[in-house]
Amino acid sequence: MTTYYKHHVFFCCNQREAPDTCCNNHGASALQTYAKEQIKALGLSGAGQIRINKAGCLGRCDDGPVLVVYPEGTWYTFIDKEDIDEIIREHLQHGRIVERLKR
Ligand code: FES
Repeated sequence: MTTYYKHHVFFCCNQREAPDTCCNNHGASALQTYAKEQIKALGLSGAGQIRINKAGCLGRCDDGPVLVVYPEGTWYTFIDKEDIDEIIREHLQHGRIVERLKR
């Protein structure tokens, strides 16, 4: 089966009031924006390539912040831009799972 996007990435950007757990209290929205900009700058966005989307709660709040890459269904957590760069370089560009960030 051919998919419209080679990789479709969803960042949970759900925001809740503290002290409730949510991904956005760990910088998810800013890093989703960063990922989207990087994919565009690399010329990797669009049909047949990569799409970076925001999502509401993905149901894994205690593991957050989380993103999920489809069609593989690979879940990652992340802390900073270096983590996002590694996921882009290793998984999205070269198809290699980043084991240290997997959830
Ligand atoms: S708030 Fe991010 S998975 Fe629930």
